[in-house]
Amino acid sequence: MRVLSGIQPSGKLHIGNFFGAMRQYLRLQEQGHQCFYFIANYHAMTSVTTADTLQDYTKEIARGYLAVGIDPEKAVFFRQSDVPEVCELTWILSCITPMGLLQRCVSYKDKVDQGLAPNHGLFCYPVLMASDILIYESNLVPVGQDQKQHLEVTRDIAIKFNNTYGEILTLPEPYILPETAVVPGLDGRKMSKSYDNTLELFESASQTKKKIMRIVTDSTPVEDPKDPDKCTVFALLKLFTSEEETKDWQQRYRQGGMGYGEAKKRLAELAVQYLEPFRQQYQKFVQDDSYVEDVLREGGKKARLAAQQLMDKVRSATGLTPK
Ligand code: ADP
Ligand code: TRP
Repeated sequence: MRVLSGIQPSGKLHIGNFFGAMRQYLRLQEQGHQCFYFIANYHAMTSVTTADTLQDYTKEIARGYLAVGIDPEKAVFFRQSDVPEVCELTWILSCITPMGLLQRCVSYKDKVDQGLAPNHGLFCYPVLMASDILIYESNLVPVGQDQKQHLEVTRDIAIKFNNTYGEILTLPEPYILPETAVVPGLDGRKMSKSYDNTLELFESASQTKKKIMRIVTDSTPVEDPKDPDKCTVFALLKLFTSEEETKDWQQRYRQGGMGYGEAKKRLAELAVQYLEPFRQQYQKFVQDDSYVEDVLREGGKKARLAAQQLMDKVRSATGLTPK
């Protein structure tokens, strides 16, 4: 099975990225699939327009992938722009992508509402994402719920291409775990770099604790019963607790007599403990930029070879090169 996924270098990694996507990357890597994981730096250009910032975020995301356990011996780990063929495929796919398909994508409207410039790159971003997936003949794409529509668009584009030029492109499937498909942020909305509501993967323990203590809860008095399913603290707590402990907390919420502060304290304890090894690994990579750069360059060469194989078929099927 060929597995592929990417993350934009547009901010700091958070536990939504980890539980929603990266933990699945690790599982699939350990199951021995052919995994391709990349840093989506062309994508990040829709929001990051300073060279130094793009460089800094790219390094951060690269260290982040390595720190959580992406293993360059097992997975092809690379930077999107080291395979420029992906832009060529984007153009080819653009020419068969109906406007209506892109107009229906909610991410464009969401991002414009968040303040991003409504430019052509942002609008056609799902076509670039389709190229990322299709160029490596990927079967499975681990992502969070917010990317599901882009996988549907990718499949629609691949079907249209195959109907037009012959059966060349592989149809991918999304890989989304329902229990972590949407990790809530500290304010109860989806956790996202753009909402300033994240628990970062590599921030200090004191930072993590402070943020958890500030999570907004309702004003139900301590003695009253509470609904765990409406509580952000519980939603985050259950990412870290065993099944048994989760049930225990559910019961404590429902029977009353428990204040949110108690649940926050336990969440802080577990989150800090869980994240500590990641933080330590991350610090190691901060001190070894050249190792990280070598890993990306080597990964880029392997990814490019795979992409070129598909592009030879695409160029010939479309008439760009002689058959
Ligand atoms: P952000 O919204 O913070 O910018 P990205 O768009 O870079 O995050 O997402 C990278 C990966 O992490 C994607 O697969 C995305 O679906 C997943 N992801 C991001 N935020 C969450 C979340 N809150 N819950 C579940 N998955 C998430
Ligand atoms: N669009 C994804 C995001 O914002 C990142 C991404 C780009 C991606 N290309 C991809 C994810 C290909 C999976 C497969 O999170």
